[in-house]
Amino acid sequence: MKASAESCANQGLIKYWGKTQERLRLPTNNSISVCLDGLRTRTTVEFSPEHAKDSFRLDGAGRDDERVVRHLDLLRSVAGSKLHARVESRNDFPAGVGMASSASGFAALTVAAAAALDLKLSAHELSRLARRGSGSASRSIPGGFTELLAGDSDEACYATRLASEDALEFRTLVVTVATTPKKVSSTKGMKITTETSPFFAPRLEYLNGALQAMRKALAEKDAAKVAELAEIDTMNMHATMITSRPPLLYWTGGTLDVIREVLALREEGVPAFVSVDAGQNPFVNTIPRQAETVRDRLAKLPSVASVLTCRPGGPAHLVAEHLF
Ligand code: DP6
Repeated sequence: MKASAESCANQGLIKYWGKTQERLRLPTNNSISVCLDGLRTRTTVEFSPEHAKDSFRLDGAGRDDERVVRHLDLLRSVAGSKLHARVESRNDFPAGVGMASSASGFAALTVAAAAALDLKLSAHELSRLARRGSGSASRSIPGGFTELLAGDSDEACYATRLASEDALEFRTLVVTVATTPKKVSSTKGMKITTETSPFFAPRLEYLNGALQAMRKALAEKDAAKVAELAEIDTMNMHATMITSRPPLLYWTGGTLDVIREVLALREEGVPAFVSVDAGQNPFVNTIPRQAETVRDRLAKLPSVASVLTCRPGGPAHLVAEHLF
């Protein structure tokens, strides 16, 4: 009853920010993302009568994580099991800095726990279950470029693949400007925005066109267009965050330094575009031919601690090597 899985984090390209239903994590809108092969989580889950309670360790440190226990409860209810679990996870990137560790974390946990419980589930079913842990985690299940269908029920809300990880010549630079955990979680921040921002309703109106344009850019394999549309959506989403009460300001001075440098690169004719999820660390999307130039320029900024170049990543999958 032990299994291990690996999953990539993902970057929202047309972003998810708002829920119509908290418990089931049903989003207000479809969202599109790309998996990032440089940001991975590996998780081992073992269900056994020998475990008196659930335990969870992340990167070697024990954690009291209610969300993990609730997710294990969900999987146990599907399997009709009462066994407790030992869970160990390892991230190859710092958690809580706006790099979607909850996405890779809950995707890997879902795939490993389902296998450990001997559940035979389709990718859609795994995606639906991963969503209950964290909305964006549903998009890490199919891998590549995926769309989370908002749906108005648990059954209708899962992620499907729009393009494989090899379909597009696309690179994402993951820029670290800080490694301090963010103060307002996505779950809490979304609630504040949907309830208070005057820009939230206009965002929902704009989203249909934005989603359509992104699907078209992906179908045409137009990497620069995909990157540009993600930047436009970043500014739109952060406008709703900033106009929330209290304002949600995920950006720091370092984030702004990177945005300004990206705008300067564009003036010079380099197709680089910024994308920021709910944190201070920006992604910079570009085409492979320009990735090195962009990386070198960003790495020179005093507020930048590191720059990691990622290719689009593949689906969440089982692995043979266990963490314990
Ligand atoms: C800004 O999936 O972390 O990164 O469902 O509440 O866990 P919960 O939220 P989460 O939200 C991610 C929001 C985002 C945009 C995106 O990835 O689409």
